[in-house]
Amino acid sequence: MKKVDVLLGLQWGDEGKGKIVDVLTPKYDVIARFQGGPNAGHTLEFEGIKHVLHTIPSGIFRENAINVVGNGVVIDPIIFKKEIDKLEERGIDATKRLKISKKAHLILPSHRLLDAASEAAKGVAKIGSTLKGIGPTYMDKTGRNGIRVGDILTPDFKTRYNFLKEKHEQMLGHYGADGVDAEMELQWLDSLNTLKRFELIDSEPFLNDQLKAGKSILAEGAQGSLLDIDFGSYPFVTSSNTVCAGACTGLGVAPNRIGNVIGIFKAYCTRVGSGPFPTELFDDIGEKLCEIGHEYGSTTGRKRRCGWLDIPALNYAIMINGVTELNMMKTDVLDTFDTIKVCTAYKVNGEITDKMPFDLNETVEPVYTEMKGWKTDLTKFNNGDELPSELKTYIQFIEEQTGVPVSVVSVGPDREQTLIQDVTSVESI
Ligand code: GDP
Ligand code: IMO
Ligand code: MG
Repeated sequence: MKKVDVLLGLQWGDEGKGKIVDVLTPKYDVIARFQGGPNAGHTLEFEGIKHVLHTIPSGIFRENAINVVGNGVVIDPIIFKKEIDKLEERGIDATKRLKISKKAHLILPSHRLLDAASEAAKGVAKIGSTLKGIGPTYMDKTGRNGIRVGDILTPDFKTRYNFLKEKHEQMLGHYGADGVDAEMELQWLDSLNTLKRFELIDSEPFLNDQLKAGKSILAEGAQGSLLDIDFGSYPFVTSSNTVCAGACTGLGVAPNRIGNVIGIFKAYCTRVGSGPFPTELFDDIGEKLCEIGHEYGSTTGRKRRCGWLDIPALNYAIMINGVTELNMMKTDVLDTFDTIKVCTAYKVNGEITDKMPFDLNETVEPVYTEMKGWKTDLTKFNNGDELPSELKTYIQFIEEQTGVPVSVVSVGPDREQTLIQDVTSVESI
């Protein structure tokens, strides 16, 4: 029986997951999103066009793959409809390639209002949420109040919707916030018709049957390991398990059915929203990373905070996820740097450690190793081209520090700007 390969982010999100899922899709029969919702923004580029997906798996542009939105995902039907409309404008009929789990939970308009009210009430301590209603929707899921995609087909759907909306309006009242306006509600109810055009399935037997039939599956994660509800920099995290185990619960595949775990990381670090970030740069170098890397959020347009690569954090994420191969993204962003720093340890209360402390706050001081930049334009590099020696050293250093081979070096946003590495040479790591 085949196994499910899992692709996920190892940092604070936006590592370039969408691009790599699109690159890898021809190798797979099924692409399945396992958690998160429209807080995600997954960008892919090909033939000069840029696409940003929020709910739909990044395999949607390849004709032969089936895409699945798993039970662990939360769906805002309004955003989903917009994504479908955009695909249709580009001539893609997603109804033929996309199936949705009946067990995925729905984001109601009142969830979005609650997200905004909760953030406003937190003041300076706010999470920096994308305000898409993610937290309140997962709270209703675990609180056993949620409404699932399959419920829209049942006769008592409207009664259940009204019951939950009224509960939310009471909560909004406590915050002193307004309730759902009629127009917003109508738009939401209307957009459920788009969902109904799709095959709504029990995705767990579907995926397991695919495996039994010898089909290959790639599970696509959203956000990043350092935003995981259990293992991220709590409370500045999202509300789902973004780590590999989330693929088991978010798709209904058993742990022993997991195959390769592909860990995606940027050659440096970014974070959007609040929370600790040990290697964050507040100087010209940080600005340079932001400008060259176009580090503005795909979902909210917010400026991303930038800093150097953080090996202790990367190793923590590798450990939690059981990463078997690494993909290094946005390598080209470092093309013009004379020197590149890598954080290899933290100084916490005067002590050097390579472990993640319980509280990753400002008392954590990064310890850096300085490396020579390659000062070469990588964006035109093709597979088989000899990489600059300084870049080879950078890759080798990361492989040594993590014990995991780097199988892909990404040198630009386009599908074609992807250098596949010969990882057999690092098998002994
Ligand atoms: P995701 O959420 O992990 O899918 O990542 P995002 O799409 O939010 O952010 C990654 C951004 O970097 C997008 O704008 C991509 O087009 C872009 N990108 C991906 N890989 C590369 C790369 O290797 N080089 C450059 N310069 N940009 C890249
Ligand atoms: P992708 O899949 C980067 C961040 C938000 C905020 C925190 C909580 O594109 O990598 P939420 O809306 O989930 O309540 O926000 O998590 N965040 C992301 N940051 N990429 C994402 O997704 C993110 N999804 C959420 O900025 O700090
Ligand atoms: Mg993103």
